[in-house]
Amino acid sequence: MNEKVAMLLNEQINKELYSAYLYLDISNYYDSLDLDGYANYYMIQAQEERDHALLFLKYMQNNGLKVTLEAIGKPDKEFTSVLQPLKVAAEHERYVTDLINNIYHEAHQAKDYRTMKFLDWFVDEQMEEEKNADTMISRYHLFGQDPKSLYLLDQEYAARVYTAPSLVL
Ligand code: FEO
Repeated sequence: MNEKVAMLLNEQINKELYSAYLYLDISNYYDSLDLDGYANYYMIQAQEERDHALLFLKYMQNNGLKVTLEAIGKPDKEFTSVLQPLKVAAEHERYVTDLINNIYHEAHQAKDYRTMKFLDWFVDEQMEEEKNADTMISRYHLFGQDPKSLYLLDQEYAARVYTAPSLVL
């Protein structure tokens, strides 16, 4: 495999684990506000990010590539309102989309059609992730300032359950 593509795939394991760490931090913040539904939503989001990391790891293993696990960065955002972590999450997902697009670009340059096919799932996933993150912001703007409505929103997010990724390697 092209060296740069292999390096970016390896880096993406770390980026996805950082995403899991960031969402754990967000979940922890909402837990401190007793917004258990939001905390649940981001706990599940963290699980999904761990799954993404493991998919990149498995893909590298399946292709006989050497995997190097690096240190995971410390989430360093100070959260100060119910809305702010939602914005951080949306911004972060756009950053991850750029990362995926960049690997896709390098795979395309290298005529690595196998990696492009693997990444297709993540391209779709990022559309979904951005949409969900944006929806959480707009719903907060619509309903979040009213305590009763915020309570109902929180209840809805409490109902989210973990599902394993549809991509199996
Ligand atoms: Fe792994 Fe939220 O993208």
